[in-house]
Amino acid sequence: FDHCFSKSDDGFLYCEGLKVQDAIDSVEKRPFYLYSKPQITRNVEAYKQALEGLDSIIGYAIKANNNLKIIEHLRKLGCGAVLVSGNELRLALKAGYDPTKCIFNGNGKLLEDLVLAVQEGVFVNVDSEFDLENIVAASRIAGKKVNVLLRINPDVDPQVHAYVATGNKNSKFGIRNEKLQWFLDEVKAHPDELNLVGAHCHLGSTITKVDIFRDAALLMVNYIDQIRAEGFELSYLNIGGGLGIDYYHAGAILPTPMDLINTVREIVVSRGLKLIIEPGRSLIANTCCLVNRVTGVKTNGTKNFIVIDGSMSELIRPSLYDAYQHIELVSPSDAEISTFDVVGPVCESADFLGKNRELPTPAKGTGLVVHDAGAYCMSMSSTYNLKMRPPEYWVEEDGSLVKIRHGETFDDHLRFFEGL
Ligand code: LLP
Repeated sequence: FDHCFSKSDDGFLYCEGLKVQDAIDSVEKRPFYLYSKPQITRNVEAYKQALEGLDSIIGYAIKANNNLKIIEHLRKLGCGAVLVSGNELRLALKAGYDPTKCIFNGNGKLLEDLVLAVQEGVFVNVDSEFDLENIVAASRIAGKKVNVLLRINPDVDPQVHAYVATGNKNSKFGIRNEKLQWFLDEVKAHPDELNLVGAHCHLGSTITKVDIFRDAALLMVNYIDQIRAEGFELSYLNIGGGLGIDYYHAGAILPTPMDLINTVREIVVSRGLKLIIEPGRSLIANTCCLVNRVTGVKTNGTKNFIVIDGSMSELIRPSLYDAYQHIELVSPSDAEISTFDVVGPVCESADFLGKNRELPTPAKGTGLVVHDAGAYCMSMSSTYNLKMRPPEYWVEEDGSLVKIRHGETFDDHLRFFEGL
């Protein structure tokens, strides 16, 4: 198992060839995000190998991480992009993405963003009746026909936290499958505007059982059969993203991209379809740590706390989803091991990065990392308590540390008031 973050025999944490403590010593601002560029490459390669022999598009879900340098790297490796806003589309274009490998998703796409998407020639997923109306309007404004996929809610339970489940009946996403015929009639009624090329579903995120994808793919090809029987020549099945990763670092064997693709490969081939997948987390989460330093250790009599400079402002997943992200110190320690909540300085009790973690009692200034911070961490960060967004660095193939995004500053905050 080749992973970018590992401990040396003498107990120091490394990112590829770089000692994380050396990165801490050379970076001015703290906390900071530290990525491995080679790990990003390896993650994409795993998907490419899994997809060998299939006509396919890897649509990287930009919402997971929108660092321009990272998305440029993903594009160079051959990825397309999955977008949920006009700005994500603009960023993908800026990063040089091929629009014919981009998919515009969302349950509340705005008309002006749809117009841009149609002008640029990206695929658009139809999410609802009003969305279809807007897509038709956008096509007329842009004077261009648009390739659409129907996002069908397959009503499959992804067995994940309710906040990241999307493909079950109660979700706000997608069209109800009972309404399929209505949508087909509408597409037929707009031959100058709409070109129906595929069907899409997205079940949810952090999925760790690939059978769920097979269940969904089987339901989806049934819909595709129905749609084809109406005379449409569909060529794409888009099974969305959602593959989970090993957040626990406790030796569990989780499904790989190969396992995922192998469960749907035959289904896709049997219908002569091209496959679109939309991975976010499984491409980027494990390539990064949030690197923090210990401000101090305290106890309230019953609970012990390690207070660090990072917080829910930089990394909100534990606070928002009760998500577990693995935490460790970057240097060896023979101090006494105790049970700690690892918390930030933000003024609320939701501000924790980890609960009940067994760790050696760290000295002030010790480096402490929160693992698997590449997806939905920086992209969901805020400046709450005026903690400005941290800088991002990656380690390159030769072990060098390179800044890939500046840290935000107090002056950036003041800029929003200039001239008012
Ligand atoms: N496609 C669609 C339509 C999506 O809604 C998503 C994620 C993806 C693809 C990518 O899913 P992934 O492969 O990354 O699981 N903020 C949450 C995750 C929200 C996921 C939203 N949709 C978290 O931090 O866990």
